[in-house]
Amino acid sequence: MCQICQAVTVTENKVIDRTGQNASSIFNQRTLEQDYRTLKSALKPGLRVLDIGCGSGSITKDIAQLVGPTGYVIGVDNTESFIAEGKKLFDVENLELIHMDFLDFETEEKFDLIVSARTFQWISTLDKAIDKIKSLLKPNGQISILDYNHEAINWTPKIPESMQNFYNMFLMWRKDAGMNNRIGFDLIDIFEEHGFDQIEIFNADEHYERMFPGHVEKIKVWSKVAGSKQMVEEGYISDAERLQAIADYNNWADKEATSMTLKLREVRARAN
Ligand SMILES: C[S@@+](CC[C@H](N)C(=O)[O-])C[C@H]1O[C@@H](n2cnc3c(N)ncnc32)[C@H](O)[C@@H]1O
Repeated sequence: MCQICQAVTVTENKVIDRTGQNASSIFNQRTLEQDYRTLKSALKPGLRVLDIGCGSGSITKDIAQLVGPTGYVIGVDNTESFIAEGKKLFDVENLELIHMDFLDFETEEKFDLIVSARTFQWISTLDKAIDKIKSLLKPNGQISILDYNHEAINWTPKIPESMQNFYNMFLMWRKDAGMNNRIGFDLIDIFEEHGFDQIEIFNADEHYERMFPGHVEKIKVWSKVAGSKQMVEEGYISDAERLQAIADYNNWADKEATSMTLKLREVRARAN
């Protein structure tokens, strides 16, 4: 995974480790209830489910619990350390965690439901990825993707200009790399184009308020993202601008920030 993908991946919720060495500990604390809450209405006993980009599988193991002993859940992730950690932590009978790029995943038995949280934001081959999912679903099987619209993030009050500039460059860097900055909101069109129907949309925003314990640290995620030098190395921003953005943003988060809202949607549909 690229440095920035790694940085954002591991800091979405908590601390940073750009090497990824301790990154899995972040995912271990995620739960279906907190971090993919809208999916619960799609989960029924007996379902066979695939979770794409499952991290260490901490949400996946909650899915396994809800589909029960007559159901089966496979989580795939292309970061080996996450899967290794998940295998140590989650010894669940009807859960299997596999280290693999999901584009290479093959199965004899297809799935009733394929889910993916916060992973499609990093995928630059969207059409190929959706076609792959379609090929892994049973007829009338269901797809659920939970993801961001990075263009609609809201900070109150306004963030310092230096960090706004870094963020604008971050979106440009992502776009140039073929990633969709508003994937969470574009999924409806993408699903329609790929012939899915019965589309359902659920708001899944993540909202952080200064007054709640730990939320200032979560608001500081963007300083952690700016901790990566990748955008400097690729000529999107100077190192001085990057360091200024970190200093100004941390100061803003400590002294001025009231809230930050990351915009997310879960979009569900059926293969016809
Ligand atoms: C932001 S994390 C989300 C983890 C988990 N779903 C969650 O919501 O906490 C994105 C995950 O997608 C994985 N990933 C990215 N591209 C992938 C691919 N092509 N195949 C499998 N996993 C992928 C990364 O390794 C990372 O663990």
